Amino acid sequence: MTTTRPDARGRFGEYGGVYAPETLVPALAELERVFEEAWADPGFRDGFSRLLTTFVGRPTPLHGAERLSEALGVRVLLKREDLAHTGAHKINNALGQGLLAQRMGKPRLIAETGAGQHGVATATAAAHLGLTCTVFMGAKDMERQALNVYRMRLLGADVVSVEGGAATLKDAVAAAFRDWAATVEDSHYVIGSVVGPHPFPWIVREFQKVIGEEALAQLGGDLPDMVVACVGGGSNAIGIFHPFAATTVELVGVEAAGHGIASGAHGASIGAGSPGILHGARTYMLQDADGQVLEAHSISAGLDYPGVGPEHAHLADMGRARYESVTDEEALDAVALLSRTEGIIPALETAHAIAWVARERAALAGRTVLVNLSGRGDKDVAQIAALGRP
Ligand SMILES: Cc1ncc(COP(=O)(O)O)c(C=O)c1O
Repeated sequence: MTTTRPDARGRFGEYGGVYAPETLVPALAELERVFEEAWADPGFRDGFSRLLTTFVGRPTPLHGAERLSEALGVRVLLKREDLAHTGAHKINNALGQGLLAQRMGKPRLIAETGAGQHGVATATAAAHLGLTCTVFMGAKDMERQALNVYRMRLLGADVVSVEGGAATLKDAVAAAFRDWAATVEDSHYVIGSVVGPHPFPWIVREFQKVIGEEALAQLGGDLPDMVVACVGGGSNAIGIFHPFAATTVELVGVEAAGHGIASGAHGASIGAGSPGILHGARTYMLQDADGQVLEAHSISAGLDYPGVGPEHAHLADMGRARYESVTDEEALDAVALLSRTEGIIPALETAHAIAWVARERAALAGRTVLVNLSGRGDKDVAQIAALGRP
């Protein structure tokens, strides 16, 4: 069973939809119409593909991780999104939405960012396409991702520190929506994952599915047993899952267990959350008995989010994908493991996917696992070093 498009109400099963302030409803309707036209326009598709080739460096390689495979007794293949321009998969979506903004005649991009990768990607797309850019970022994330803050400013973006709430991604998303509601005439909000009100989860998936399409072609018919990806909002995971959903390949998303699920300090929205409304959509989220959003926790800023994309909620309910979680400690160990066996320093987010394969190696023995290596770890090195690791 698989999903293609959300239904007429913008839902994947019972998830998704449009729970947005009235000021934004016309902009969301315009975005749906413009995207639908653009995606059916060969000129737009060619322009996007050309940028992915000449600017991003796609296709990214599919790498047989021989020394890691030997160490784990599991055949691991890595889809190298860390080699995409700016160091993560986020650039695919940022460029696609930048092109949509141009098509709508909107000269200003707004973005929110947690790990800073989506902010860097949007600032990069804005610079490349001649648009201006404002990025909202939680004050706590600005501290742990200082390198990316500098990169965004170097690229000409205005980075706004968000002090409210936990000063992390959820608060940055709320600030970005507030800005958009006030500037919707000339601004486009480049949402950074498959979250938010319809049509965002659909648009972002369409721009990210190139990851799975390339992987499928690169495999040349030799399908893996399983595809594994980390899940924050879920864009790198849905991007690689989507073309495999029509096959029998197992799909595993790995959420952040933070200090451990039992501690309450985690980001496992599917694993330990329940359905509710967050940032304009119905989905699994972390909430208390009164429906108040709970703070998430993850060592990785990109997984430190109390919700998840509605399509993942649907895939989980259908049993087409399953969602597991690993702790901060396991992710830190996986950074060292991949660095030392393959010479690849992964992002802390990405390390969650590697950590799950490492933990489950006995159950996975002899099988072939395709892992989405969503990003590189340069941005995290200072944070990891400050912990006295490895
Ligand atoms: C390298 C990397 N991987 C994964 C994520 C999580 O986002 P998503 O679940 O949308 O792929 C982020 C978010 O910033 C990231 O930077």
